[in-house]
Amino acid sequence: MEVKSLVSGRTTVENNVLIAPMAGYTDFAFRSLEISLGAGLTFTELVSAKGLFYGAKGTRELLYTGEDLPDETIYAENRNKTAAQIFGADAYYMRAACESEYLKNFEIVDINMGCPVPKVFKNGEGSALLADINRAERIVSECVKSGKTITAKIRTGLIRGDDVAADFAKMAENAGAAMVTVHGRVREAYYSGEPDFAAIEKAKRAVKIPVVANGGIFTVKDADDMISKTGADGVMLARGAVANPFLVAELTGKTTDMTLLRFVLSQLSVMTERYGEKRAVAEFRKFVPYYVKGEEGSKSCRVKLMKCESVSEIVDILKEIL
Ligand SMILES: Cc1cc2nc3c(=O)[nH]c(=O)nc-3n(C[C@H](O)[C@H](O)[C@H](O)COP(=O)(O)O)c2cc1C
Repeated sequence: MEVKSLVSGRTTVENNVLIAPMAGYTDFAFRSLEISLGAGLTFTELVSAKGLFYGAKGTRELLYTGEDLPDETIYAENRNKTAAQIFGADAYYMRAACESEYLKNFEIVDINMGCPVPKVFKNGEGSALLADINRAERIVSECVKSGKTITAKIRTGLIRGDDVAADFAKMAENAGAAMVTVHGRVREAYYSGEPDFAAIEKAKRAVKIPVVANGGIFTVKDADDMISKTGADGVMLARGAVANPFLVAELTGKTTDMTLLRFVLSQLSVMTERYGEKRAVAEFRKFVPYYVKGEEGSKSCRVKLMKCESVSEIVDILKEIL
């Protein structure tokens, strides 16, 4: 795929390889490392607009971008290469979130219109917005009034056979959004199955703002196929970036001498600093199946790693296998 910047109005994203929002994965540690490996833009995991409004505990951590760290560290890049993703069903709270202190470090705010989980869906939030284009339109236009650059992440619909991406992309553009990401699956499919290339392509043709394609990109070939089948302006990597943190460098041509072991050691060190050891170990467990997959003796290592209770135990095992 051709690497290029994404330009929309006053906002320029340095390149068109984006790292998706992923709850429980795309924290400050993972995002920072992916930025250092070439990501044009990363996203926080989804954050509740109402939660921000009522100052819910924990949201500050989700939105941390290294603002207190010295400029000369790699973390300085986080500030302009991280978008905040918010979710909600109410335009008032969504705009208030955009205007809140919590989001003051973010130029770009992404609106989640794709989350399939029942807890979110039943409140009319996330992918439920795909069934109510007027409400979605009100949310985008109110958020735009905050002065932030607003983007939206949508799916192709709710149930198999749906094809709403083009209508939603058009709606978002008309309401003032600067970019749309289309996850080429319906809610019902969650994260499985081949993406609907035709629906992404239709969305791309429907608008002038950049359209980013997402779904099932695990290799350079997958990214090339995605672009050639959809004509999208860029790609968003999700599970593919966890399975291979260097995919972003392979796609952007960024040269690096980082190894998977060094990546993981840095990640663990930042996580420990942010969360304390106990929580860092617990959070890190989710990454283990991805990182040890394909390594010799991966099954027994996975079992051992899952039982670790300290960072030093994890490091010792990883040093043996990575
Ligand atoms: C564990 C997990 C957490 C996710 N969290 C979010 C989220 O917070 N916000 C969002 O818009 N999408 C979220 N997604 C969806 C991804 O951003 C992406 O759209 C999806 O995984 C499809 O891409 P892939 O097939 O390349 O993984 C999540 C996906 C996974 C697997």
